[in-house]
Amino acid sequence: MILRIDRIQTDMPPPSDPDPAGAARVQELMGGRFGEMSTLMNYTFQSFNFRNRQGARPFYDLIANIAAEEYGHIELVAVAINTMLTGSTPPANGKPPGDAMKDLKDQAINPHHFLAGGQGALPQDSRGNPWTGDYVFSSGDLVEDLTHNFFLETGARNNKLKVYQMCDHPAARALTGYLLVRGGVHQVAYARAVELLTGADLTKMFPAPRIPTDKIPECQPHIEKGLHKKLYRFSPNDYKEIVAVFTGPHPETGEPLEVVDEAPEGFPPHDLPSQPADYAPEEIKEIAQKLRKKAGLPDEPLGVVASSPENGGGSLTDKVKDKIS
Ligand SMILES: [Fe+2]
Repeated sequence: MILRIDRIQTDMPPPSDPDPAGAARVQELMGGRFGEMSTLMNYTFQSFNFRNRQGARPFYDLIANIAAEEYGHIELVAVAINTMLTGSTPPANGKPPGDAMKDLKDQAINPHHFLAGGQGALPQDSRGNPWTGDYVFSSGDLVEDLTHNFFLETGARNNKLKVYQMCDHPAARALTGYLLVRGGVHQVAYARAVELLTGADLTKMFPAPRIPTDKIPECQPHIEKGLHKKLYRFSPNDYKEIVAVFTGPHPETGEPLEVVDEAPEGFPPHDLPSQPADYAPEEIKEIAQKLRKKAGLPDEPLGVVASSPENGGGSLTDKVKDKIS
């Protein structure tokens, strides 16, 4: 079972200037062959299909937990895409319907972001192709699966670097800065697992990709917090045998690898403004408020967000904060 926590794994910036063409590129990190849907589903199916778990428990625990972290990575990619799309069309840009999409006409957008969705992330790659289960490799052979996973993380980190280079929107940069660091941990984890099983050190045999995360400013805060050497255990009481595999020195820095016995604390997301809908959002809000009252809930919503459309969608509060600090 999965326990769900209503926070995102890293702090993401509020909406600023929209970048729908950049959002189309970031889709590669969602539904591309090496995207987060692929890492999530590869490790999820490998853990579902894992036979004789008790006989190989540390390896099962490792794969199952990295799968859990990948769920949060999909969420972060969606946050970045949605943030970058915010303000691309009315009501945010204030133009009448005939002119609303004018700015998008010559941009390399994903039309599905506007035609088939409410300016939200889709399970597609950067060309608009749907993610497919054919990207999942679950052979039942542990060494094959772990070697595949190392390669998958290699490709995933390459894609993240390329998206970093192709998109300068703050949301894309914050996303790739965090995922480059976390993908590095997963790459190390799978390499160590193969090493402990076979003696082969994949980090020496295939020292790729060479990504100087220490020179990428958006990676810095995460490296300073030690997130390049920590693996989270995403469960209150289970999967305690990860420590048997995620152990020893980090192959690049020599620092000891650590298992953290809890999920990351996380950050509240910015609550993005509604898009035009067939059914008035104000009426939905009214109905929701009545239902909340009837259920005996307090007047203020119980969920926590970093900012909401009512207080400027985040940008306003952040600008004020910038002025003060
Ligand atoms: Fe990931």
